[in-house]
Amino acid sequence: MRNLIEINDLSVKEIAELISVAEDIIADPQKYAHVCAGKKLATLFFEPSTRTRLSFEAAMYELGGNVLSVAGANSSSAAKGESVADTAKVISCYADIIAMRHPKEGAPLVASMNASIPVINAGDGGHNHPTQTLADLLTIWRKKGRLDNLTVGFCGDLKFGRTVHSLITALSRYTGIKVVLISPDELKLPSYIKKDVLKANNIPYEQSTDLVEMIPQLDILYMTRVQRERFFNEEDYLRLKHSYILTPDKLKNAKSDMCILHPLPRVNEISVAVDDDERACYFDQVLNGKYMRMALILKLLEVSL
Ligand code: CP
Repeated sequence: MRNLIEINDLSVKEIAELISVAEDIIADPQKYAHVCAGKKLATLFFEPSTRTRLSFEAAMYELGGNVLSVAGANSSSAAKGESVADTAKVISCYADIIAMRHPKEGAPLVASMNASIPVINAGDGGHNHPTQTLADLLTIWRKKGRLDNLTVGFCGDLKFGRTVHSLITALSRYTGIKVVLISPDELKLPSYIKKDVLKANNIPYEQSTDLVEMIPQLDILYMTRVQRERFFNEEDYLRLKHSYILTPDKLKNAKSDMCILHPLPRVNEISVAVDDDERACYFDQVLNGKYMRMALILKLLEVSL
Protein backbone atom coordinates (compact mmCIF):
# COMPACT_ATOMS: atom_id res chain seq x y z
CA MET A 1 0.00 0.00 0.00
CA ARG A 2 1.35 3.43 -0.99
CA ASN A 3 0.90 6.81 0.67
CA LEU A 4 1.89 10.32 -0.46
CA ILE A 5 3.29 12.15 2.55
CA GLU A 6 6.12 14.05 0.89
CA ILE A 7 6.84 14.59 -2.78
CA ASN A 8 9.88 12.31 -2.76
CA ASP A 9 7.54 9.40 -2.01
CA LEU A 10 7.09 9.53 -5.80
CA SER A 11 10.04 8.91 -8.10
CA VAL A 12 10.72 11.20 -11.06
CA LYS A 13 9.48 8.37 -13.31
CA GLU A 14 6.23 8.08 -11.33
CA ILE A 15 5.68 11.85 -11.58
CA ALA A 16 6.12 11.59 -15.35
CA GLU A 17 3.56 8.76 -15.38
CA LEU A 18 1.08 10.85 -13.34
CA ILE A 19 1.51 13.74 -15.78
CA SER A 20 0.88 11.36 -18.65
CA VAL A 21 -2.32 10.03 -17.02
CA ALA A 22 -3.46 13.61 -16.26
CA GLU A 23 -2.92 14.54 -19.91
CA ASP A 24 -4.99 11.51 -20.94
CA ILE A 25 -7.78 12.51 -18.52
CA ILE A 26 -7.76 16.04 -20.00
CA ALA A 27 -7.97 14.58 -23.52
CA ASP A 28 -10.71 12.03 -22.76
CA PRO A 29 -12.43 12.57 -19.38
CA GLN A 30 -15.29 10.24 -20.30
CA LYS A 31 -12.89 7.28 -20.35
CA TYR A 32 -12.34 7.80 -16.60
CA ALA A 33 -15.90 8.71 -15.59
CA HIS A 34 -16.71 5.43 -13.81
CA VAL A 35 -13.34 3.87 -12.95
CA CYS A 36 -13.70 4.53 -9.19
CA ALA A 37 -17.34 3.40 -8.91
CA GLY A 38 -17.90 1.97 -5.43
CA LYS A 39 -14.78 3.65 -3.97
CA LYS A 40 -14.87 6.34 -1.29
CA LEU A 41 -12.44 9.18 -0.62
CA ALA A 42 -12.41 10.71 2.88
CA THR A 43 -11.27 14.34 2.96
CA LEU A 44 -10.19 15.17 6.52
CA PHE A 45 -9.40 18.87 6.65
CA PHE A 46 -8.50 20.26 10.07
CA GLU A 47 -7.41 23.58 8.51
CA PRO A 48 -9.24 25.86 6.04
CA SER A 49 -9.09 25.02 2.35
CA THR A 50 -10.93 25.85 -0.85
CA ARG A 51 -8.82 24.41 -3.69
CA THR A 52 -7.30 21.31 -2.20
CA ARG A 53 -10.40 19.87 -0.54
CA LEU A 54 -12.81 20.72 -3.32
CA SER A 55 -10.43 19.60 -6.08
CA PHE A 56 -9.92 16.27 -4.32
CA GLU A 57 -13.68 15.89 -4.03
CA ALA A 58 -14.29 16.96 -7.63
CA ALA A 59 -11.54 14.55 -8.70
CA MET A 60 -13.21 11.60 -6.95
CA TYR A 61 -16.67 12.47 -8.30
CA GLU A 62 -15.26 12.78 -11.83
CA LEU A 63 -13.78 9.29 -11.43
CA GLY A 64 -17.23 7.96 -10.50
CA GLY A 65 -16.45 7.55 -6.79
CA ASN A 66 -17.95 9.05 -3.65
CA VAL A 67 -16.72 11.37 -0.94
CA LEU A 68 -16.93 11.55 2.88
CA SER A 69 -15.85 14.90 4.24
CA VAL A 70 -14.67 16.51 7.46
CA ALA A 71 -14.34 20.22 6.75
CA GLY A 72 -13.03 21.96 9.84
CA ALA A 73 -11.36 21.01 13.11
CA ASN A 74 -14.53 21.61 15.10
CA SER A 75 -16.78 19.34 13.07
CA SER A 76 -15.18 16.02 14.00
CA SER A 77 -14.32 14.22 17.24
CA ALA A 78 -10.84 15.75 17.03
CA ALA A 79 -12.55 18.63 18.88
CA LYS A 80 -13.23 16.18 21.74
CA GLY A 81 -9.59 15.16 21.86
CA GLU A 82 -9.50 12.14 19.54
CA SER A 83 -5.97 11.47 18.32
CA VAL A 84 -4.87 11.52 14.68
CA ALA A 85 -3.92 7.84 15.04
CA ASP A 86 -7.40 6.83 16.25
CA THR A 87 -9.06 9.01 13.61
CA ALA A 88 -7.05 7.23 10.90
CA LYS A 89 -8.05 3.79 12.23
CA VAL A 90 -11.71 4.80 12.34
CA ILE A 91 -11.81 6.33 8.84
CA SER A 92 -10.14 3.16 7.50
CA CYS A 93 -13.41 1.37 8.39
CA TYR A 94 -15.45 3.68 6.15
CA ALA A 95 -13.36 4.82 3.20
CA ASP A 96 -10.84 3.52 0.65
CA ILE A 97 -8.41 6.47 0.69
CA ILE A 98 -7.79 9.55 2.87
CA ALA A 99 -6.68 13.08 1.96
CA MET A 100 -5.70 14.87 5.18
CA ARG A 101 -4.81 18.51 5.92
CA HIS A 102 -3.64 19.30 9.43
CA PRO A 103 -2.01 22.31 11.15
CA LYS A 104 0.53 20.02 12.85
CA GLU A 105 3.57 19.06 10.84
CA GLY A 106 3.77 15.28 10.55
CA ALA A 107 0.08 14.59 11.29
CA PRO A 108 -0.56 12.92 7.88
CA LEU A 109 2.53 10.76 8.47
CA VAL A 110 1.09 9.64 11.80
CA ALA A 111 -2.23 8.95 10.06
CA SER A 112 -0.47 6.84 7.41
CA MET A 113 1.22 4.76 10.13
CA ASN A 114 -2.16 3.92 11.65
CA ALA A 115 -4.50 3.70 8.66
CA SER A 116 -5.09 0.54 6.68
CA ILE A 117 -5.86 2.58 3.54
CA PRO A 118 -3.64 5.01 1.55
CA VAL A 119 -3.15 8.47 3.08
CA ILE A 120 -2.39 11.62 1.08
CA ASN A 121 -0.87 14.66 2.77
CA ALA A 122 -3.04 17.60 1.69
CA GLY A 123 -0.82 20.09 3.56
CA ASP A 124 0.73 19.76 7.05
CA GLY A 125 1.52 22.98 8.89
CA GLY A 126 4.43 24.87 7.38
CA HIS A 127 6.03 21.63 6.21
CA ASN A 128 4.88 20.05 2.94
CA HIS A 129 2.09 20.15 0.36
CA PRO A 130 2.96 17.45 -2.20
CA THR A 131 -0.28 17.50 -4.20
CA GLN A 132 0.09 21.25 -4.78
CA THR A 133 3.49 20.36 -6.20
CA LEU A 134 1.84 17.90 -8.58
CA ALA A 135 -0.41 20.76 -9.75
CA ASP A 136 2.63 23.03 -10.11
CA LEU A 137 4.60 20.45 -12.09
CA LEU A 138 1.77 19.75 -14.54
CA THR A 139 1.38 23.50 -15.06
CA ILE A 140 5.10 23.98 -15.71
CA TRP A 141 5.08 20.95 -18.02
CA ARG A 142 2.11 22.23 -20.02
CA LYS A 143 3.47 25.79 -20.28
CA LYS A 144 7.19 25.13 -20.82
CA GLY A 145 7.23 21.58 -22.24
CA ARG A 146 9.92 20.53 -19.77
CA LEU A 147 10.71 20.20 -16.07
CA ASP A 148 14.48 20.60 -16.46
CA ASN A 149 16.76 23.49 -17.45
CA LEU A 150 14.71 26.13 -15.70
CA THR A 151 15.57 29.11 -13.51
CA VAL A 152 12.85 29.23 -10.88
CA GLY A 153 12.30 32.20 -8.58
CA PHE A 154 10.40 31.77 -5.31
CA CYS A 155 9.16 35.04 -3.83
CA GLY A 156 7.51 35.90 -0.50
CA ASP A 157 7.15 33.72 2.58
CA LEU A 158 9.73 31.02 1.96
CA LYS A 159 9.93 30.15 5.65
CA PHE A 160 6.36 29.00 6.24
CA GLY A 161 5.31 28.39 2.62
CA ARG A 162 4.89 24.61 2.50
CA THR A 163 4.20 24.64 -1.23
CA VAL A 164 7.64 26.21 -1.74
CA HIS A 165 9.34 23.51 0.33
CA SER A 166 7.69 20.71 -1.64
CA LEU A 167 8.27 22.25 -5.09
CA ILE A 168 11.96 22.96 -4.41
CA THR A 169 12.34 19.35 -3.25
CA ALA A 170 10.67 18.07 -6.42
CA LEU A 171 12.63 20.29 -8.82
CA SER A 172 15.97 19.44 -7.19
CA ARG A 173 15.78 15.99 -8.84
CA TYR A 174 15.79 17.44 -12.38
CA THR A 175 18.88 18.58 -14.29
CA GLY A 176 19.72 22.19 -15.07
CA ILE A 177 17.58 23.70 -12.31
CA LYS A 178 18.65 27.01 -10.76
CA VAL A 179 16.75 28.44 -7.80
CA VAL A 180 16.42 32.13 -6.90
CA LEU A 181 15.10 32.78 -3.37
CA ILE A 182 13.49 36.21 -2.90
CA SER A 183 12.22 37.04 0.58
CA PRO A 184 12.59 39.38 3.53
CA ASP A 185 15.37 38.27 5.89
CA GLU A 186 12.79 37.07 8.44
CA LEU A 187 11.06 34.78 5.90
CA LYS A 188 14.03 33.06 4.29
CA LEU A 189 13.92 29.42 3.22
CA PRO A 190 14.66 27.20 6.26
CA SER A 191 18.31 26.21 6.43
CA TYR A 192 17.48 22.49 6.58
CA ILE A 193 16.00 22.74 3.06
CA LYS A 194 19.05 24.64 1.78
CA LYS A 195 21.34 21.98 3.25
CA ASP A 196 19.36 18.76 2.73
CA VAL A 197 17.78 19.62 -0.62
CA LEU A 198 19.62 22.36 -2.52
CA LYS A 199 23.20 21.75 -1.42
CA ALA A 200 22.75 17.96 -1.23
CA ASN A 201 21.64 17.93 -4.88
CA ASN A 202 24.17 20.53 -6.08
CA ILE A 203 21.39 22.90 -7.10
CA PRO A 204 22.81 26.40 -7.63
CA TYR A 205 20.85 29.05 -5.75
CA GLU A 206 21.04 32.70 -4.83
CA GLN A 207 19.17 34.70 -2.20
CA SER A 208 17.92 38.25 -2.55
CA THR A 209 15.43 40.67 -1.11
CA ASP A 210 14.91 42.39 -4.49
CA LEU A 211 12.28 40.94 -6.83
CA VAL A 212 12.77 43.53 -9.59
CA GLU A 213 16.52 42.91 -9.74
CA MET A 214 16.07 39.13 -9.98
CA ILE A 215 13.08 38.95 -12.34
CA PRO A 216 14.90 39.21 -15.74
CA GLN A 217 16.62 35.83 -15.37
CA LEU A 218 13.52 33.83 -14.35
CA ASP A 219 11.69 31.21 -16.42
CA ILE A 220 9.21 30.65 -13.58
CA LEU A 221 8.18 33.12 -10.87
CA TYR A 222 6.46 31.38 -7.94
CA MET A 223 4.74 34.03 -5.80
CA THR A 224 3.51 33.16 -2.30
CA ARG A 225 1.27 34.62 0.38
CA VAL A 226 2.72 35.67 3.72
CA GLN A 227 1.29 32.90 5.93
CA ARG A 228 -0.48 34.87 8.65
CA GLU A 229 -1.68 31.72 10.45
CA ARG A 230 1.89 30.56 11.14
CA PHE A 231 3.12 33.80 12.78
CA PHE A 232 3.63 33.92 16.53
CA ASN A 233 2.64 37.58 16.71
CA GLU A 234 0.42 39.79 14.60
CA GLU A 235 2.87 42.72 14.61
CA ASP A 236 5.44 40.73 12.62
CA TYR A 237 2.78 39.71 10.11
CA LEU A 238 1.58 43.31 9.66
CA ARG A 239 5.16 44.48 9.12
CA LEU A 240 5.90 41.83 6.49
CA LYS A 241 2.61 41.35 4.67
CA HIS A 242 3.28 43.99 2.01
CA SER A 243 6.86 42.84 1.31
CA TYR A 244 6.18 41.94 -2.33
CA ILE A 245 3.32 42.96 -4.56
CA LEU A 246 3.66 41.91 -8.19
CA THR A 247 2.29 44.60 -10.51
CA PRO A 248 2.41 44.97 -14.33
CA ASP A 249 5.16 47.57 -13.88
CA LYS A 250 7.44 45.05 -12.14
CA LEU A 251 7.02 42.64 -15.07
CA LYS A 252 8.54 45.07 -17.59
CA ASN A 253 11.96 43.39 -17.58
CA ALA A 254 10.69 39.81 -17.18
CA LYS A 255 11.04 37.28 -20.01
CA SER A 256 8.11 37.37 -22.43
CA ASP A 257 7.47 33.66 -21.77
CA MET A 258 8.04 33.70 -18.02
CA CYS A 259 5.39 31.70 -16.22
CA ILE A 260 3.84 33.29 -13.10
CA LEU A 261 2.64 30.73 -10.57
CA HIS A 262 0.95 31.08 -7.17
CA PRO A 263 -0.60 28.23 -5.19
CA LEU A 264 -3.43 30.59 -4.09
CA PRO A 265 -5.18 31.90 -2.11
CA ARG A 266 -3.64 35.29 -2.81
CA VAL A 267 -4.15 38.24 -0.52
CA ASN A 268 -2.40 41.18 -2.18
CA GLU A 269 0.90 39.76 -3.45
CA ILE A 270 -0.25 39.67 -7.08
CA SER A 271 -2.21 42.68 -8.29
CA VAL A 272 -5.42 41.70 -10.09
CA ALA A 273 -4.10 43.80 -12.99
CA VAL A 274 -1.57 40.98 -13.62
CA ASP A 275 -4.38 38.46 -14.19
CA ASP A 276 -4.78 39.62 -17.81
CA ASP A 277 -1.08 39.12 -18.55
CA GLU A 278 -0.61 36.00 -20.68
CA ARG A 279 2.20 34.95 -18.33
CA ALA A 280 -0.25 34.57 -15.41
CA CYS A 281 -0.77 30.82 -14.95
CA TYR A 282 -2.17 30.60 -11.42
CA PHE A 283 -5.73 29.77 -12.41
CA ASP A 284 -4.38 27.06 -14.74
CA GLN A 285 -2.69 25.60 -11.65
CA VAL A 286 -6.08 25.31 -9.94
CA LEU A 287 -7.54 23.21 -12.76
CA ASN A 288 -4.36 21.18 -13.21
CA GLY A 289 -4.52 20.30 -9.51
CA LYS A 290 -7.77 18.46 -10.07
CA TYR A 291 -6.36 16.40 -12.94
CA MET A 292 -3.21 15.46 -11.03
CA ARG A 293 -5.28 14.50 -7.97
CA MET A 294 -7.41 12.28 -10.24
CA ALA A 295 -4.25 10.61 -11.53
CA LEU A 296 -2.91 10.22 -7.98
CA ILE A 297 -6.13 8.66 -6.66
CA LEU A 298 -6.01 6.12 -9.51
CA LYS A 299 -2.39 5.29 -8.71
CA LEU A 300 -2.84 4.88 -4.95
CA LEU A 301 -6.03 2.87 -5.35
CA GLU A 302 -4.23 0.77 -7.98
CA VAL A 303 -7.10 1.28 -10.42
CA SER A 304 -6.36 0.35 -14.00
CA LEU A 305 -8.60 1.00 -16.96
N1 CP B 1 -3.28 25.92 -2.69
C1 CP B 1 -4.01 25.53 -1.62
O1 CP B 1 -3.60 24.64 -0.83
O2 CP B 1 -5.21 26.16 -1.49
P1 CP B 1 -6.28 25.87 -0.36
O3 CP B 1 -5.66 26.26 0.96
O4 CP B 1 -7.50 26.66 -0.71
O5 CP B 1 -6.55 24.37 -0.36
